[in-house]
Amino acid sequence: MARKIVVTSGKGGVGKTTICANLGAKLAGLGFRVALLDADIGLNNLDVVMGIENKIVYDIADVINGKCRIKQALIQDERFPTLYVMPSAQLEIKSSLSGEQVKLVVDMLSPNFDYILIDCPAGVDNGFHRAVFSANEALVVVTPHISSIRDADKVLSILSNYNLHSKSLIINRVRGDMLLSGEIISIEKIIELLNIPIMGVIPDDDAISTLSSLGAFAYGTTGAKAFSILAENVHNGSKKIYDCTYRYRGFMGVIRRNIKRKV
Ligand SMILES: Nc1ncnc2c1ncn2[C@@H]1O[C@H](COP(=O)(O)OP(=O)(O)O)[C@@H](O)[C@H]1O
Ligand SMILES: [Mg+2]
Repeated sequence: MARKIVVTSGKGGVGKTTICANLGAKLAGLGFRVALLDADIGLNNLDVVMGIENKIVYDIADVINGKCRIKQALIQDERFPTLYVMPSAQLEIKSSLSGEQVKLVVDMLSPNFDYILIDCPAGVDNGFHRAVFSANEALVVVTPHISSIRDADKVLSILSNYNLHSKSLIINRVRGDMLLSGEIISIEKIIELLNIPIMGVIPDDDAISTLSSLGAFAYGTTGAKAFSILAENVHNGSKKIYDCTYRYRGFMGVIRRNIKRKV
């Protein structure tokens, strides 16, 4: 049976889809069978980030409506053979898909996978319910900004109405130079404010955004290292945290901080 993990946030644009894709790739790289389920109906960002938008024949709505078998809708990744995507449905289907129907699909996938990562849409309405209802665990993504932390706090209180046995935090887009200069809220303070265990910290890394717009994973970058640590933490419960500040410490670090400030 798969671990069913929803990646959620409340606020849009904080990195849920990016984290789903890269965490999925890292877990698949460790040899696990991973299904990414795009519950962001209509926007289908995950397809783009995974570089599969031209390969979609069937989607989750077709599975639910009996137009195809689940295997026909799943798209296998070309880079990681144990990584699959269940594409999201078209916009017009949006209001008619229920959380219960998505759960049926998740339960059908479960015996054949180790992980099902569910990419949640922004907001806390029907789309949120649709994404969270079938999950057992939640990863709540925040950025080091007060608006994102406030939204995550609201989401956490809504998540308490669901049957989740764990909720943990991923802090994304952390700028090490700004952490050191005290210009952004510290990791410790965010954990204290939200009061849930931390699963990972991901640096703000231009390569992540450039690569994901090309349908590629973070590779050989600081972000890639942080995603590897996140995957290890998710899988074996370790509590390693990527240090976003290490490049900005010492003599060379001061030079890097000054360069970063000028660009
Ligand atoms: N750690 C990161 N560093 C740099 N850019 C990032 C990072 N995480 C996400 N992004 C960029 O931020 C934008 C929003 O990310 P996305 O994953 O689509 O957010 P969401 O799914 O929460 O709406 C995208 O352009 C993505 O490439
Ligand atoms: Mg998204």
